[in-house]
Amino acid sequence: MNTHTETLFSEVETANSKQLAVLKANFPQCFDKNGAFIQEKLLEIVKSSDVELSKESYSLNWLGKSYARLLANLPPKTLLTEDKDHNQREENKNSQNLLIKGDNLEVLKHMVNAYAEKVKMIYIDPPYNTGSDGFAYNDDRNFTPEQLSELAGIDLDEATRILDFTVKGSSSHSAWLTFIYPRLYIARELLRENGVIFISIDDNEISQLKIICDEIFGEANSLGIIIHNKLNSKSDTLNIQKNHDFLLCYRKSITPDASLINYSVSEQEVFEDNGRFYILKDSITTRGDGGTLNKRKNLGYTVYYHPETTDFIGVSDYDIELASSSNSEEKVYSDNEELIANGYVKIRPPKVRGKLGAWTWDIKKFNSEKDNIVIRKTNNGYQVRKRTFIEKKDVFKKADSLYTKVKAKGNSRSILDYSTNDGTNQLSSILGHPDVFSNPKNVNYLKYIFSLVPENNYIALDFFAGSGSSLQAICELNIDDGGIRKFIGIQIDEKCKSDSTAFDLGYKNIFEVTKKRIIKAGEKLKKENPDYNGDLGFKIFETVNDFRTKDESELTLSNHTFFDDVVLTPEQYDSLLTTWCLYDGSLLTAPIEDVDLNGYKAHLCDGRLYLIAPNFTSEALKVLLQKLDSDKDFAPNKVVFYGSNFESAKQMELNEALKNYANKKSIDLDLVVRN
Ligand SMILES: C[S@@+](CC[C@H](N)C(=O)[O-])C[C@H]1O[C@@H](n2cnc3c(N)ncnc32)[C@H](O)[C@@H]1O
Repeated sequence: MNTHTETLFSEVETANSKQLAVLKANFPQCFDKNGAFIQEKLLEIVKSSDVELSKESYSLNWLGKSYARLLANLPPKTLLTEDKDHNQREENKNSQNLLIKGDNLEVLKHMVNAYAEKVKMIYIDPPYNTGSDGFAYNDDRNFTPEQLSELAGIDLDEATRILDFTVKGSSSHSAWLTFIYPRLYIARELLRENGVIFISIDDNEISQLKIICDEIFGEANSLGIIIHNKLNSKSDTLNIQKNHDFLLCYRKSITPDASLINYSVSEQEVFEDNGRFYILKDSITTRGDGGTLNKRKNLGYTVYYHPETTDFIGVSDYDIELASSSNSEEKVYSDNEELIANGYVKIRPPKVRGKLGAWTWDIKKFNSEKDNIVIRKTNNGYQVRKRTFIEKKDVFKKADSLYTKVKAKGNSRSILDYSTNDGTNQLSSILGHPDVFSNPKNVNYLKYIFSLVPENNYIALDFFAGSGSSLQAICELNIDDGGIRKFIGIQIDEKCKSDSTAFDLGYKNIFEVTKKRIIKAGEKLKKENPDYNGDLGFKIFETVNDFRTKDESELTLSNHTFFDDVVLTPEQYDSLLTTWCLYDGSLLTAPIEDVDLNGYKAHLCDGRLYLIAPNFTSEALKVLLQKLDSDKDFAPNKVVFYGSNFESAKQMELNEALKNYANKKSIDLDLVVRN
């Protein structure tokens, strides 16, 4: 059994500490005995392999970049708690969807242990920093210049200049970059290896964003940029209207299934053949240079076709050896006179740029799969086409012809037309009032871009949820294609301005708008699709102040204790439990089961037993050991208890008893004293 003591989120990080820890774990030989990094050793390792070294290098630097790196590494300052009333409602209690209230940087930091490599698709629509969208950098970290200088590894002057904008609320490019960089950095950690991220942006920050996305995701992982034509008529610049914004698309890594695929559905004409229905496919010829008979001498047979009986057969009526050099039909081919006398016409492979052509199927395949071939008269001869049979139920009549719907696979177009007015109207109709939220995205635009992700059972994340358009789009897509995508939306409780419509209607903050929209959209979708049994509910969590946090002025590299002994309120108790489960790797939707130990309430989540309450008695310990012994379904691999609520004698008793038990049974049981 292993026992250790830890303080939740107590690690003090510097701008590069997490990255260095990865290097140290994988390349210990690159560090000297005092832990200093030896750059040359890493170069030696790289040089000895086939890696090509580039001598060119460029990057985007700004005032605050090292601070942004530090922000990505620092632990969260908050705890997470659930909205029990909402989550226990019938429609939400089994839901796998989440809406989380709080600053997304805090929430992403909480999520990183449990959700690392679990998210298939991220969509974000961050503040564009237009000058009128209210973006101003806000930061409540409260570092002194000395602290920041030490933790970020920068000089005092730079630290002072950075703190100047973090305190004042700047909307400079540097401030915007400092805001977005750590969020994208952590977002990448949440993506699955085949995950993709879509980021909406306009021309105010596209240049900056593209370069840091190349840095964070890798230039080779850019999937392209979509221009979203907003179909508006607004002239909001001096010379050129702004009728579009952009969508940057990146994948996490180069794996084939991290690509985007556009499945388009089109109507295709259907033909009937003796009560069976079919659609036409390609001809069995190729038009490229490789499609000549000279290059494919075995594929030059003639198809003899009887126009009245529609019978046909492939006949090898040519000189195969001559076929590799000559392009004279008279010399290479000799007609089958008998078939011609019986009314057959000859169909030879169409010529390719003046040269004799070839089929793509060999004669054996051709004659054995005749049912999959159809011969059609054209203006200047006959076409030999493949055909695919379809079921009668898939055929419909339009005018005097028959049609079916065919799904085709392709790439997305890079210019997409989706009206922003429609987005506004969609939101107004759901909330029953216009102007509650400015510029919500068009749900159909989001449905289209999400449908490019070639899976339909995954976790989707939007950490700038706004009015919740993307969350509605996920629900609608699931209804359309039977998918089981789960959404996670994150939205800060940004106050609604006192002169806004939202405020007049009683919404105190944007989070309340998000929540209302998803509830209302769920109700509307259920009404329109009464037989749909998919997940239209969602659970709510929110960040709360960490009651364990001491004054942050004590946060330095050498001093990082956090807690005083405390008596927990029920809210603090719940927030510790929720935060711990997530911190230990359980999804927020994982069930937490109460375990009764002779009146002492413990909690079991994904094989970990949590003991938070005070008054853990010797009787409770006895029941715990009995339960471990006799209840086959009760087999935790880790026991975590709240150190502040276990005086040291009780800690020792628990420790000894569990150690003896684990040794006797030869099982691995970790014991963690957590503060
Ligand atoms: C451009 S809007 C997103 C609009 C959304 N796509 C829609 O269609 O409704 C950006 C949203 O991000 C929110 N936001 C800004 N900073 C945030 C932060 N640090 N954490 C969470 N949300 C934030 C804003 O309150 C705003 O609602």
